Amino acid sequence: MLAASSVEIRKVNKHFGPFHALKDVDLVIEPGKVNCLIGPSGSGKSTLLRCINFLEEYDSGEIRIDGQLIGYEAPGKKMSGRRLREMRRSIGMVFQQFNLWPHMTARENVAEGLIRVRGMSKSEAHERAAEALTKVGLADRMTNHPARLSGGQQQRVAIARAIAMEPRLMLFDEPTSALDPELVGEVLNVMKTLAGEGMTMVVVTHEMGFAAHVADKVAFMEKGELVSVDIPDRILHHPEDARIQSFLRTYHERNNF
Ligand SMILES: Nc1ncnc2c1ncn2[C@@H]1O[C@H](COP(=O)(O)OP(=O)(O)OP(=O)(O)O)[C@@H](O)[C@H]1O
Ligand SMILES: [Mg+2]
Repeated sequence: MLAASSVEIRKVNKHFGPFHALKDVDLVIEPGKVNCLIGPSGSGKSTLLRCINFLEEYDSGEIRIDGQLIGYEAPGKKMSGRRLREMRRSIGMVFQQFNLWPHMTARENVAEGLIRVRGMSKSEAHERAAEALTKVGLADRMTNHPARLSGGQQQRVAIARAIAMEPRLMLFDEPTSALDPELVGEVLNVMKTLAGEGMTMVVVTHEMGFAAHVADKVAFMEKGELVSVDIPDRILHHPEDARIQSFLRTYHERNNF
């Protein structure tokens, strides 16, 4: 595994037209640590995650990956597309929808980026793809097309596709929320393995069990504000802020525990 990245988010603001979606957000993620982002729907979790790799432009503040500003050369001056692509090479992202090519096998899906973006030969890429698929427990499904894979398997292919690029930072946006409940565990287990290998991870999730047991820190967002960030036990079991208490109450009522 390559070195893990650090992420520093300082006073980041983001508007969608008049709507203030991120309000002076500060968050520091240390190399090799897992940070979960939780909070109600519409609180800005996906927006913040997407700002980290500049899929979403932020208006002010700074986001630094390994000390390097992403998206801007200097305040207000956008970085070139080429430089941005270079920075993104070390960042992997996994979404709720798996976004696999339906006409390609699992192995081809993983190899595609290695060939196109990394310029690897087909045989080299297929070898690397096989390693990544083995790592996520899909050694026996390499020639399946997505339609012949369960949702959990498809999401593991998407994770294999991301880790095959050897990222130093992985961003996950609700990777298990499109899955049937019985398939959630297999995906979380793969993520837990990656976390154990010391990869820096930022995970937007509704899986409080994952946040409680795997995260080093949990950040709670509401209405575009990062309300609190702390060790999981303090956020999930002993929250002081009334907004977190109310969120958890609703969550527990809905999930019946
Ligand atoms: N492209 C956009 N244009 C306008 N408003 C947007 C856009 N993207 C997000 N928003 C708004 O910004 C707010 C934050 O959205 P975001 O998707 O970050 O929330 P979230 O915390 O990820 O919610 P969820 O848990 O439902 O995924 C929401 O009110 C949303 O409607
Ligand atoms: Mg979201």
